[in-house]
Amino acid sequence: MDLKISVVGTGYVGLVAAVCFAQKYSVVCVDTDREKVDLINSAISPFFEPELDSLLKKAVDRDALTATTEISSALDGADFVFISVGTPSLHSGAIDLSYVETAAEQIGEAIKDMNKYVIIVQRSTVIPTTTRSIVKATIEKLSGKSAGKDFGIAFVPEFLREGSAVEDFLHPDRIIVGTQDEVARNKLFELYSDFYSEISHERIVSMSIESAELVKYASNAFLATKISFANELANIAEIIPGVDIGDVMNGVGLDHRISPHFFGAGVGFGGSCFPKDVKALINFARTNAIEPILLEAVMERNSMQVVHIVDMAEDALGSIEDKKIAILGLSFKPNTSDMREAPSLKIISELIERGAGEIVATDPKAIPEAKRILGDRIKFAENPEQTIMGADCAIVITEWDEFKKISPDIFERYMRTPVVIDARRIYDYEKFAGKVRIFAVGRRANSFDGDG
Ligand SMILES: NC(=O)c1ccc[n+]([C@@H]2O[C@H](COP(=O)([O-])OP(=O)(O)OC[C@H]3O[C@@H](n4cnc5c(N)ncnc54)[C@H](O)[C@@H]3O)[C@@H](O)[C@H]2O)c1
Repeated sequence: MDLKISVVGTGYVGLVAAVCFAQKYSVVCVDTDREKVDLINSAISPFFEPELDSLLKKAVDRDALTATTEISSALDGADFVFISVGTPSLHSGAIDLSYVETAAEQIGEAIKDMNKYVIIVQRSTVIPTTTRSIVKATIEKLSGKSAGKDFGIAFVPEFLREGSAVEDFLHPDRIIVGTQDEVARNKLFELYSDFYSEISHERIVSMSIESAELVKYASNAFLATKISFANELANIAEIIPGVDIGDVMNGVGLDHRISPHFFGAGVGFGGSCFPKDVKALINFARTNAIEPILLEAVMERNSMQVVHIVDMAEDALGSIEDKKIAILGLSFKPNTSDMREAPSLKIISELIERGAGEIVATDPKAIPEAKRILGDRIKFAENPEQTIMGADCAIVITEWDEFKKISPDIFERYMRTPVVIDARRIYDYEKFAGKVRIFAVGRRANSFDGDG
């Protein structure tokens, strides 16, 4: 298909979509951030994501993808316009719609004199009814055109996971297409059937715009619930001798009604989506007189889990005060440099509050971003050895492969007192016996041979 796709907003969602679509179609990205635009045109991704740099370079070299700050030239002749600007949390938990509103105004202006029927696809996560009441209404007002007649409007949620965003975009479990009219629906089905030539048609699902908006929130709320459930069970497991939460959740997850994914007990969920989306759903329910007791408990368990990790360190050391703590992992998950709502930030704050003498942290990708956020509140080191050197306790917060390779001998050789809090459960505890005192989430210390 000979198509032109425009993508408004080149963050994780926008740039990944743009780069993947550019392997087949002609793509123009727009962003208000000139620095990002320049980096993209130089074939450099503004953030780390596996496979993204090589695909971006391929697309830029073939002239299949360009970036600009000029929305009108970017939309000129477009068949589809994807909106993927941010929808961050406000203090109340509601989402900040200002970026979506501005993008809609700019799109309305840009399509005013366009003769082509363009489909405008909202991809930023928004509370149900927003696409119709704000995006569609704003574009209609500014362009003087009518949705369904002069242009199409749709909401297609994005489900990619940072750290495997390209892989997820290229091999989605499902495509949810929320539309209000047949033309937009059919054109989007054509696009997705062409792009995903191997996807079964039952996996491209059509529904109302508002149902599609709620699918996104329901999916993230459910995944967050699974994580909080696993963490609650992990806390219970820690008081029972001989129980390991990994075995328990594996045993539970093998039931095909449940599935083993997102059952990992650890530090709780973070990142740019789960906390923001669950809070937004809670806020939306409350403002409509519904008490979201389950979702509130999910958030509360998540906040308690980071405190629990610091409690584990305190129990192991007797006191945090004046101790040197090594932090292994800063990004909210492996394979990303993203620090938004990273549990590491909350754990570090809690350690500082409890009087830690010195905190030294490392991360394979997130140090520049962490330095921007934390400044000189902590120290940073280039590698695990420098990080744990002379430390009283090491806390594994992100399960990067680099940290899985640290042997008990290394901890024993470099640390002042080899105490490890394995908050991501990445080590083989038998190998640590007799060398390192290791405490893992969901596993009672001293209840296994050689532990603790
Ligand atoms: N990050 C994820 O893993 C993920 C996954 C699924 C859905 N989402 C949702 O997708 C949306 C985008 O998320 P993100 O993580 O990519 O955000 P982001 O903050 O990384 O990127 C947003 C981009 O939009 C740009 N922008 C803002 N206003 C603009 C405008 N008027 N015109 C052009 N560009 C503009 C910003 O400069 C920025 O580069 C959010 O609603 C988020 O909830 C994110």
